[in-house]
Amino acid sequence: MAPPLPILHLLLLLLLLLLSLRLSSSDLLSLRRGSSLSVENPSDVLVSPAGAFSAGFFGVGENAYTFAIWHGGPNCTGPSCVPVWMANRGVPVNGKGSRLSLTDNGNLVLSDAGASTAWSSDTVPSKAARLQLNDTGNLVLAGENGEALWQSFDFPTDTLLPTQVMKRDTVVISSRSRSNYSEGFYSLYFNDDNVLHLIFNGPTFSSSYWPFPWARPQDLGRFVYNSSRSAVLDPLGYFLSSDEYKFYSSDYGVVIPRRLTVDPDGNLRVYSLDTATKNWSVSWEAFSNIPCFIHGVCGNNSLCSYDRTLGRSCSCVPGYERVDPDDWSLGCRPTFELSDSCGSDVGFVKVLYVDFYGYDYDTVPNTTLDNCQKMCAESCSCRGFQYTLSSSDTHDAYDCYLKIELLNGHNLPSFSGEFHLKVNKSVTFTTDQLERRTRYNCTGVQKEVLDRRYPQKGKNGVVNFMLWFAIAVAAIEILVVFVVWFFFFRNQQDITAASHSYFLAATGFQRFTYDELKKATKNFSQEIGRGSGGIVYRGVLPDNRVAAVKLLNEAITGEADFLAEVSTIGKLNHMNLIEMWGYCAEGKHRLLVYEYMEHGSLAENLSSQELDWRRRSDIALGTAKGLAYLHEECLEWVLHCDVKPQNILLDSEYHPKVADFGLSKLMDRGKGTNSDFSRIRGTRGYMAPEWVSNLPITAKVDVYSYGIVMLELVTGMNPATSVHSLEGRGDVKHIRLVTWARQKMQESASNPSGVDEMVDPILEGNYNRKKMEILIQVALQCVAEDKDTRPTMGQVVEMLLRHDNNDL
Ligand SMILES: *[C@@H]1O[C@H](CO)[C@@H](O)[C@H](O)[C@H]1NC(C)=O
Ligand SMILES: *[C@@H]1O[C@H](CO)[C@@H](O)[C@H](O)[C@H]1NC(C)=O
Ligand SMILES: *[C@@H]1O[C@H](CO)[C@@H](O)[C@H](O)[C@H]1NC(C)=O
Ligand SMILES: *[C@@H]1O[C@H](CO)[C@@H](O)[C@H](O)[C@H]1NC(C)=O
Ligand SMILES: *[C@@H]1O[C@H](CO)[C@@H](O)[C@H](O)[C@H]1NC(C)=O
Ligand SMILES: *[C@@H]1O[C@H](CO)[C@@H](O)[C@H](O)[C@H]1NC(C)=O
Ligand SMILES: *[C@@H]1O[C@H](CO)[C@@H](O)[C@H](O)[C@H]1NC(C)=O
Ligand SMILES: *[C@@H]1O[C@H](CO)[C@@H](O)[C@H](O)[C@H]1NC(C)=O
Ligand SMILES: *[C@@H]1O[C@H](CO)[C@@H](O)[C@H](O)[C@H]1NC(C)=O
Repeated sequence: MAPPLPILHLLLLLLLLLLSLRLSSSDLLSLRRGSSLSVENPSDVLVSPAGAFSAGFFGVGENAYTFAIWHGGPNCTGPSCVPVWMANRGVPVNGKGSRLSLTDNGNLVLSDAGASTAWSSDTVPSKAARLQLNDTGNLVLAGENGEALWQSFDFPTDTLLPTQVMKRDTVVISSRSRSNYSEGFYSLYFNDDNVLHLIFNGPTFSSSYWPFPWARPQDLGRFVYNSSRSAVLDPLGYFLSSDEYKFYSSDYGVVIPRRLTVDPDGNLRVYSLDTATKNWSVSWEAFSNIPCFIHGVCGNNSLCSYDRTLGRSCSCVPGYERVDPDDWSLGCRPTFELSDSCGSDVGFVKVLYVDFYGYDYDTVPNTTLDNCQKMCAESCSCRGFQYTLSSSDTHDAYDCYLKIELLNGHNLPSFSGEFHLKVNKSVTFTTDQLERRTRYNCTGVQKEVLDRRYPQKGKNGVVNFMLWFAIAVAAIEILVVFVVWFFFFRNQQDITAASHSYFLAATGFQRFTYDELKKATKNFSQEIGRGSGGIVYRGVLPDNRVAAVKLLNEAITGEADFLAEVSTIGKLNHMNLIEMWGYCAEGKHRLLVYEYMEHGSLAENLSSQELDWRRRSDIALGTAKGLAYLHEECLEWVLHCDVKPQNILLDSEYHPKVADFGLSKLMDRGKGTNSDFSRIRGTRGYMAPEWVSNLPITAKVDVYSYGIVMLELVTGMNPATSVHSLEGRGDVKHIRLVTWARQKMQESASNPSGVDEMVDPILEGNYNRKKMEILIQVALQCVAEDKDTRPTMGQVVEMLLRHDNNDL
C-alpha cells in the first residue's frame, strides 16, 4: 500500500500544474504599459493567476458599464457574480468606445466613449510597468520590480476582502441599493475615538449607530487607546480590529471565498461563497435580530419593525402617510393640518411600544403626564413626547422626553414607555388605526437568513474531478490510519473533534468544551436546580462571568438536532427571557450555558417576605411579556409547554426571566397544530386540559399555565397540592384552586372583601386592590377550560399594561 502513494501525489501535482497552465494560457494575466482593455471586447478581462478573481467591464444598467473586480472566472453570471470593487461606481461609462488604458506615462485611465475621463488612478508620472490582478482580489499597478505603485485594496468601495487591511483613513461606503452601485448612505470607518463605527449619512441627517450610541464604546468592550487604527478579516474567517473588536464567521476554519460588505440596508455582513451552489450566504452580521437599531432606515415620522421570518419593514405613525411610495428614507408627512402647532388647539394621541432615539430638546425628570403634555403643547417645535418610567432606581417616578424630530423610530414590543404624538385636535383616530400601527404587520417582505451550515467544498468541471481524485487518494491514506486507530482506540470516538472551530459568534454565543465547563463548575459540584431534561449547576466561566450550566440528560438528541435547536434558542433575545451564552456538544455530553440569576426561581421565593406587591405585579407583567415574545410578534412560534414557578427566575432586582423555553420541540407557525406532541409535557397542576383530552396543542397551553402561576403568585397556594373547601348549603365540597378562585371572585361582586380573602396573607394587606382584582380576572380568563376563550399572551400584556396606565 505504501509505495504507490508518493507516485500518485506526483501525478496529481503534475495534472494540477497542467490544468492551471491550460486555464491561464487563454486569459489575460496583465495589462502592459501602453495597452488597453475595451468595453466592446468580452474577452478583455484580467484574470488572477489561479483564476480566483477577474477584473473587467461590468454592466450596471442599460448601456452603462463600470470597471469592476469579481470572484471567479471571466464570465460574470449567476448569483455568485457580485462586484467587490469598482473604479467608477457613481459614473458608469458608455458601452461603445470606452476603454481602460495604462498610458505611456504610467497612469491608469478609464475613458468614457473614447472621450472624457470617467476615472483615473492619478499616478502620473510613474514607472508603472503593468496592471495585474492578484489572487487576493487586489488589482495592482506594479513597477518593473513588482512593487505596488497603486492598488485597489487602498480604495475599497462597499467591500473588504480577506487580507485587505482597513486603515486609518479607509471609508467603506454601501451601495445605494442592490442594483444601484452608486454611493449609498451607510459607511464603516474609524472615528476620532479610534473605534470602528457604522454611520448613517442621509440627505437630511446623519447618525452613528454602531457601536450602540447610548453607551460609551469602552463599556461595550472597545479599546479606545490604540491609534494604529487597522482591521482585517483573515482567510479563515476571523476579524480583528485595533479597537479589539473581533468576531468569527459561522463557518470559521476553512479557506473559502468570503467578503465583508456594508450592505445598502446598513448592516455589516460577512458573506461566504458556497462553491457548489454558487450562492453567497451570510456567515456573520453585525445586527442579526435587531436590525431596527440601524438608523435612517425608515426616515422621518415612521416606525421600523422587525420580524425574524419576514424581515424589516417601515410604517408611518398614526395620522401620517408616506412621502414617496418607493423610498422609505424620505419618511412620512401628516395627513392633517397642523399650521399652528402650539397652543390649546393641539391634541395628543398615545402609541405604545414605540421608541424614537435621540432628538430630545428637553428632558424633565419625575413629572406628571399632564405637565409633560402641557410643556409639549406650549412649545411650537415639540413634535411629541416620550413618557417613561424613570431609569433611576426610584419607584413610580416618570420622566418626560420632549422631541424636536421623530427620527430613528422603532417598534419595540418590550418597550414599556408610552409615546404621545402631537396632532390636530380635530382629527380622530379609530382604535383599529392605533392598534394596527403599534403592531407588527405579518405580511410581505423577504429577509436575509443567517446561514449556519458547514461549508461544502466543491469546484467546477475539471477542477472538481481533480479535487475528488485528491480526496480519494487522501481517503485511502486516512482509511489505513483509521483502521489502525479504530482497533486500538475505538472507545475514544469524538464526533465533534472536527468541528471544534465552529463558532456561533454572530449571535454572541459560544461553543464551550466539556473540560472548560467541568472546570467552571468545579466538577459539577454546586447544584442549583433540576429542570426538565437535566440538572443545573453554578459555574464561573473563564472570563469570570457567573453562569448557570445545565447538564442535559445524555439521551436527549443527536448533534445536528441539538445544534439546530440551540441556535434557534440563542437567537431569542428579550429582557424577560433567560439569555443563553453558549453550549457544549462533545461526544455524549450536551450542556447549555445560561446567565446566572441571583435570586433563583419564583418557586423558591413565593413564601419570602421579599416578594412584596410591587415585585409580584412586576413578575406578572414581565413573565407575560417574555411568553408573548415567544408566541407572537410574528416570530417563530415557540411553545414553552412547561410554565411553572420553577421556570421563572428572578434577577438581583427580582425582575422575572422565563427559563427552559425552546427545549420542547420548536413549532412552525405555519403548521398550526402539531401532531409531534405525542408525549405529554408539563407539570401536574399547571397543565392545560388539552393535554389529557386529545385536543390540539397550541400556544394556549402556555396561557393556561401562566394563569395558574398567577393564581399561585396571588394566593400563595400550590395548585398541585392544595385542595380547598367550599361551604354551600350545609355540605363541604373539596375543589381545585381554579374553581375556588372563580367562586371567590363571584362572591366578591357582592362582598368586596372577597378578594382580600384570596390574597396571600404574607402581603399583610399591602396591595392595590383594584390592580389585584384585574390581575385575578386576567388569570381566570387564562385558565378558561375552552382554549379559544383564553386570551393570547399579547392580549394579557395589553390588559395588564392598560390598567397600569389608567392608574396614573
Ligand atoms: C464566456 O462567454 C463567452 C461568450 O460570451 C464564451 O465564448 C466563452 O466560452 C465563455 N467562457 C467560459 C469559461 O465559460
Ligand atoms: C501580488 O502577488 C504577487 C505574487 O503572489 C506578490 O509578490 C505581490 O506582493 C502581490 N502584491 C500585492 C500588492 O499584494
Ligand atoms: C442611483 O442612485 C443615485 C443616487 O441616488 C441616482 O442619482 C441615480 O440616478 C441612481 N441610478 C439609477 C440607475 O437608478
Ligand atoms: C494596536 O493594534 C495593532 C493592530 O491590531 C496591534 O498590532 C498592536 O499590538 C496594538 N497596540 C496596542 C498597544 O494594543
Ligand atoms: C442557492 O442555490 C440554490 C440551488 O442552486 C437555489 O435554489 C437558491 O435559489 C439559491 N439561493 C439564492 C439566494 O440564490
Ligand atoms: C421631518 O418632517 C417634517 C414635517 O413633518 C419636516 O418639516 C422636517 O423637515 C423633516 N425633517 C427631516 C430631518 O427630514
Ligand atoms: C386643524 O385642522 C383644521 C381643519 O382641518 C384647521 O382649520 C385647524 O387650523 C387645524 N388646527 C391646527 C392647530 O393646525
Ligand atoms: C418625585 O416627585 C414627587 C412629588 O413632587 C416627590 O415626592 C418624589 O420624591 C420625587 N421623586 C424623585 C425620585 O425625585
Ligand atoms: C401589511 O403589509 C402588506 C404589504 O406590505 C399590506 O398590503 C397590508 O395592508 C398590511 N396590513 C396591515 C394590517 O397593515
